[in-house]
Amino acid sequence: MRKRPLGRTGLTVSELGLGTWGLSGDGYGPVTEAEQDRVLDRALALGITLFETADSYGHGAMERRLGARVPDDGRCRIVTKLGTDRDHAVPRKSFTVSHLTEALDKTRERLARPTVDVVLLHNPSLVALQRGEATAWLAEQKQSGVVRAWGVSAGSTAIAREAIARGAEIVSVAFNAFTTAAFSELSEDITRDDVGVLAHSVLAYGLLTGHWGAGKRFPDGDHRADRWTSDELRQRVRQLSALRPLVGGDVMTMRAGALRYVLANGLVSSALLGPRSSLQLDQLVREAGKGPPYLTDDALTALAARLEEVGVL
Ligand SMILES: NC(=O)c1ccc[n+]([C@@H]2O[C@H](COP(=O)([O-])OP(=O)(O)OC[C@H]3O[C@@H](n4cnc5c(N)ncnc54)[C@H](OP(=O)(O)O)[C@@H]3O)[C@@H](O)[C@H]2O)c1
Repeated sequence: MRKRPLGRTGLTVSELGLGTWGLSGDGYGPVTEAEQDRVLDRALALGITLFETADSYGHGAMERRLGARVPDDGRCRIVTKLGTDRDHAVPRKSFTVSHLTEALDKTRERLARPTVDVVLLHNPSLVALQRGEATAWLAEQKQSGVVRAWGVSAGSTAIAREAIARGAEIVSVAFNAFTTAAFSELSEDITRDDVGVLAHSVLAYGLLTGHWGAGKRFPDGDHRADRWTSDELRQRVRQLSALRPLVGGDVMTMRAGALRYVLANGLVSSALLGPRSSLQLDQLVREAGKGPPYLTDDALTALAARLEEVGVL
């Protein structure tokens, strides 16, 4: 497993990270505890050293699981996200110092670590970030040694840019072959401030595997049921024709092409995988390739032209 620096933090992380939203059962539907443990153990065996979660995933259960299974050995790094207040009937976002202070204490207890490697604000609004309270608090936590590095999981370019301007050492953003605009708009800021980048949703929630037909339906409890209208999904599935020609040689599947597209970007510190089984994890790690070039320059140039042709770019 190849490693990359996490921006200017001084931390080094595996270029494939294990994201645990899907694994937690939130978002895509239930996963058994036995399978969750199998995936975590398999990730460790495959050399993954970056584990990404949030205090809200499984109402804290995923942090507890990571705390129990991932060794606190200075090699493995756990990234968690705070900012969801579940003390109400309907969970709400909260980035006040009082909420974050209490949340971090609970996270440290669940992760069974006195020091948390990385804390990100979990999708704050631009207004919440502009108050400055949450980023100043994170900088204090780093200064006092309670967290090693901090950043923001950002839902838009404006939010990521604001976070970087306020000192974020890491941003987590959606980045995949169909979602490129925000990332390219940010590349100057990322390079200038040597910001670590955690790329999530690298398969566009499974779309880029190329396994879905135009009439694909999702069960209740799967966030994808509400993500696209049937017309949008039909169009997205049609646009996959731009990705198909990536398959060939050691790029064995469209899934491999999509993952390699993210890894081919040198600004990415780690591509966060979202497997819901150890089989899916094995496929992704096997197909990612052993090192650059993940895709040739010619393949990337031709892909950009095809994406434009089908209306993605
Ligand atoms: N705000 C944030 O910071 C943020 C936001 C989103 C995600 N994340 C993190 O990033 C991780 C991944 O992102 P994501 O869930 O948004 O999207 P993703 O990785 O693009 O898609 C995950 C889905 O891809 C499918 N998949 C995974 N491996 C596969 C394989 N080998 N073969 C076929 N299908 C496969 C699975 O779908 P099926 O269920 O259909 O099998 C899975 O649910 C999450 O777990 C989370 O930890 C962070």
